[in-house]
Amino acid sequence: MSDAEQTSESSEWQPTASYEADPASVSKVLLLYSGGLDTSVMLKWIQDQYQAEVVTLTLDMGQPGEDWDAALEKARDLGAVESVLIDAREEFARDYVLPAIKANALYGGGYPLFTALGRPLIAKLAVETARAHGCDTIAHGCTGKGNDQVRLDGTIATLDSDLGVLAPVRQWKMGREEEIAYAREHGIPVKGGTEGAPYSIDDNLWGRSSEGREIEDLDSAPDPEVFQLVTRPELAPDEPVELEIGFEAGCPVSLNGEALGLVELIERVGEIAGEHGVGIVDHIEDRIVGLKVRDLYEAPAAAVILTAHRELEKLVCTIHQNNFKSGLESQWAYLCYAGLWYEPLRGDLDAYMDSVNRWVEGRVTMRLYKGQVIPIKRNSPYALYDAGMAGFGESGGSFSQQASPGFIELFTLQTRLAHRVRDGKGEE
Ligand code: ARG
Repeated sequence: MSDAEQTSESSEWQPTASYEADPASVSKVLLLYSGGLDTSVMLKWIQDQYQAEVVTLTLDMGQPGEDWDAALEKARDLGAVESVLIDAREEFARDYVLPAIKANALYGGGYPLFTALGRPLIAKLAVETARAHGCDTIAHGCTGKGNDQVRLDGTIATLDSDLGVLAPVRQWKMGREEEIAYAREHGIPVKGGTEGAPYSIDDNLWGRSSEGREIEDLDSAPDPEVFQLVTRPELAPDEPVELEIGFEAGCPVSLNGEALGLVELIERVGEIAGEHGVGIVDHIEDRIVGLKVRDLYEAPAAAVILTAHRELEKLVCTIHQNNFKSGLESQWAYLCYAGLWYEPLRGDLDAYMDSVNRWVEGRVTMRLYKGQVIPIKRNSPYALYDAGMAGFGESGGSFSQQASPGFIELFTLQTRLAHRVRDGKGEE
């Protein structure tokens, strides 16, 4: 290419953001590769478009039923110079899901954040792998409409400002039909027919989401076909099941008395809960990028573990801690949702969550029945609870019923005064 041509090409390209990859300097790309249609088309497209080498990175984050060997082989068949697979399940559970459990994390009151929790780890492993393989650019399959682009671009730019980011779906203007045509033309295997786009699915150890197609029709009940992890509650067994989860320092450590590592515990709880119809959430969500969206979530393990954790935490914390923590929890959930994993405030909040969770030790038994999760037994050496002291009609321990009238007199003093001096005005 002559100097003149090069100048005219680079003057055409106008980056919107500092971290966007400059087409003229893309030479070795780390592609986040799932093995699906979008990222397979991307693998070829990047080689064609930029004459670049591509290293693929595929991550096992506990997605059920994946054939990892097949994904690696497909990447190599499509021209990847290297295809890397990392089993990230332990790290995901320990460093991302566990803090979420300690924070009782639910965004918008219902979404246990599994996708959002996975993104910062994906970005971190992508940066590490890109560096190890001498890549200058990281490419991913996010669209320009979702939260995931915010989480990945933002985290990559935070961790390494020398790496460029490419999001081909944001720029290539191919619809699904064009992608399929491109795939056929380039010898990329296409599963199934061409009829309509499938749901957009994202899953990991902590849950599974489905978006798009008729799910977007708010006026329609979910098609039962969407649900792959959770049995429809009405078809769940007629006999309930009881699960006892043991906690140490806020971390689930045993199931029905058997000590288990976090990954296995989550998997086992998820299976049993799914069978009993537990963990479906039909959620209207405020995306970071301004849109509202409807998501169908299946998060059976999260439904049980978060309920058990919250239950035990309530028992060992004071009224003041319990009231204070819920505000911090929604802040935590928002930062995670918004992809601001490296925001210092999250670290500050985690310090508080850890401090409270030192005392979250004990066992909670949950009854699962046709979609419901009901805590039925609790036991903790740190429970701020004394059956004798709370008994009706009795005085005992450190509680005195004789002291109550004095307490009530002082506790209600300001409210009573205000009512008197304002003569009930404006306080209907
Ligand atoms: N709405 C959820 C979130 O923003 C789920 C996103 C699922 N992502 C996907 N690529 N299908 O975290």
